[in-house]
Amino acid sequence: MIPKILYVFSLLSLVFGNENSCLYYDSYHGEPITEEEYQQRVVENTTFWCTNVLSTCNPDEWRRIDGSCNNLCHPNRGMPHTPTLRLLPASFSGNVEEGFQIRDSKSGDPLPDERPLRTSLLPEARVPDQVFTQLVAHYLLFSVSDTLSIHDSINFVRWKPYCCLPQGKKDRDCVQVKIPNDDPVHRFSHLRCMKITRPLSYQSEGCLQNDTVPERIISATPSLDLSGLYGADPAKLAKKGRLFKNGLLQYELINGKMWPPNVKSNDTLCILNEPPAETRCHATPEDALNSLPGINLFGIWFWRLHNYIASELAKVNPCWNDDKLFYTARDINIAISLQIYFYELMPSLMGVTNLLRAGVLSPHPGFRDVYNPQHFPQISAEFAYALRWFHIIQENEQKMYDTKGNYLKSMPLTNLTLRTGYLAIDNNLDHITQGAFRQPGGRFESSVDPDIAEIGLSRATEGTDIPTFDLVKNRYFGLGPYVKYLALCSGRKFKKFDDLVGYIKPERLDIIKDKYKNVEDIDLMAGLWTELPAEGSFLPKTLQCIMEEQFIRFIVSDRHWFERPNRPHAFTLKQLLEIRKSTISRLLCDVGDKVTEIQPYGFIRPGPGNKISSCDRIPKIDFRAWKDRSCVSSNYAGNPYARDELSE
Ligand SMILES: *[C@@H]1O[C@H](CO)[C@@H](O)[C@H](O)[C@H]1NC(C)=O
Ligand SMILES: *[C@@H]1O[C@H](CO)[C@@H](O)[C@H](O)[C@H]1NC(C)=O
Ligand SMILES: *[C@@H]1O[C@H](CO)[C@@H](O)[C@H](O)[C@H]1NC(C)=O
Ligand SMILES: *[C@@H]1O[C@H](CO)[C@@H](O)[C@H](O)[C@H]1NC(C)=O
Repeated sequence: MIPKILYVFSLLSLVFGNENSCLYYDSYHGEPITEEEYQQRVVENTTFWCTNVLSTCNPDEWRRIDGSCNNLCHPNRGMPHTPTLRLLPASFSGNVEEGFQIRDSKSGDPLPDERPLRTSLLPEARVPDQVFTQLVAHYLLFSVSDTLSIHDSINFVRWKPYCCLPQGKKDRDCVQVKIPNDDPVHRFSHLRCMKITRPLSYQSEGCLQNDTVPERIISATPSLDLSGLYGADPAKLAKKGRLFKNGLLQYELINGKMWPPNVKSNDTLCILNEPPAETRCHATPEDALNSLPGINLFGIWFWRLHNYIASELAKVNPCWNDDKLFYTARDINIAISLQIYFYELMPSLMGVTNLLRAGVLSPHPGFRDVYNPQHFPQISAEFAYALRWFHIIQENEQKMYDTKGNYLKSMPLTNLTLRTGYLAIDNNLDHITQGAFRQPGGRFESSVDPDIAEIGLSRATEGTDIPTFDLVKNRYFGLGPYVKYLALCSGRKFKKFDDLVGYIKPERLDIIKDKYKNVEDIDLMAGLWTELPAEGSFLPKTLQCIMEEQFIRFIVSDRHWFERPNRPHAFTLKQLLEIRKSTISRLLCDVGDKVTEIQPYGFIRPGPGNKISSCDRIPKIDFRAWKDRSCVSSNYAGNPYARDELSE
């Protein structure tokens, strides 16, 4: 008897043994470490940031929640806390002994102060864009939250709010941003300091020695995989996400509206909810869904969309179990978000011709397989940073309308930060939804909404100038001079200011010459703010170039990319062609509250050629493309109708 049991055991462990074993990786280097090395880091308390733990990869499994096993040879790449890559070498001053400092100007003097630089290069104004709706900024923000994390903002707002106080002078993490006496806004206030903290890095978290080049650390997965929604931690998703029934995410129905579940305690991230009326705060795997309103809105919509997809799949495939429904719905949800991002939003902003030429868009609707495991699922430090340019198209006044398009009221978006509760009262979410596709966004020009420049994120951060902080971060991330990027993108050299004629808007070039002494001093963001748009695009040339470079990497590095025919659980051609029908307007018709009429191109302002009309006219995914013949044969054997479907 006993030997037989042992035999069965050893057989079992042959089959399953590897499945459950843990692999340990160094998050920065991407190399395996031994269990002893891992235990050493437990003692140092550096495992959270500095290591990745994963189980053995199975090449046929779905895209993992934590991003592991996307690259089968380098299985921790794609996980949280793995590094960005740099398009150009880091640029810091200082040395190993005194630590790396932000770079100095060519002459050795400090670079010009950030706040006066911002106020002169980027005036404050609120100008309605003539092309795009408010949905553009909301979608961009949501997609940014998919690959970046918000801990640096939480750091200076919640953990280290004292950086402008005497205590802050002693804290190495604190940065005090000087406000000059002749500041256009603060000349009349006492405020002479804006507080911010240094970015968290592999060095600050103890993963790398302090004599190495500072590298920012990020807690989201670097692929576009809706990790803002599903999170990056399978345990959190199991607890706060999955319902484990019918493939659904947990939800609450209130007056017929679906919401992510509400937190039970009152110690929440929604600290700006106004009690007693405002009580809602999402209990989702990612706190980011309660942070800024754009992220929150799309978080709610994609949460609902998951459940909509799962229900449609369950209708066509009654034999599918929870797991199959869940992972298929997630895969379709991600594919829809990518189809909208790459094939609708980005072509409107960056130009279809440009993106086709760059190889970002597939020239035909069928499969495309350009996977190349030589590239890791990773974002460039420059991409992560340059997206901050979009702060200048953020219109802060969110208008609200009824379903007939009558204006009701408006609310500054900065009043809705950390305040999910507002959306759930007085039908505010319905009215904001209507506003998002009716209202113009902020103009794509060299100016910034006054609220973004003087209030920042919320009433908890008044006196925060986001674009000034973008300049500060530019320097702390150690990004090289603007002209080096321009050279990288254009293949030309820029030695003197006049070489920038034809690249920088003429009147801004005059200001740049006033502010900077040498052409190599110009900060990357200062260049992006003042640059002329790329041909056929609304975006500055260098931003266009940095984004295209990353878009290609998203596509070639992702083994689970939705257009691939050779990935685990790949779409059939018929299914992919259904995904191609996805549009932002269809999404709102499916899951936006009371959206029964909308313009066909929701990112573009309604008007001639894009009139608001019935949702019935907007193409819709037909989930019968997912019909599983094995369900049909097992459930409906002998049913004459089933035979038709089988021979379909
Ligand atoms: C260990 O590290 C975590 C994450 O960085 C931190 O939150 C926690 O406070 C640390 N614990 C100790 C005892 O230092
Ligand atoms: C690097 O310096 C920071 C701040 O002084 C400190 O907290 C951290 O522990 C240091 N890291 C290492 C690896 O010495
Ligand atoms: C949380 O709720 C408890 C009980 O309802 C209450 O006593 C407490 O003051 C609340 N805390 C906050 C921060 O609102
Ligand atoms: C937005 O917040 C500011 C500052 O807290 C407040 O003065 C203003 O009344 C709020 N606006 C609305 C429409 O509630």
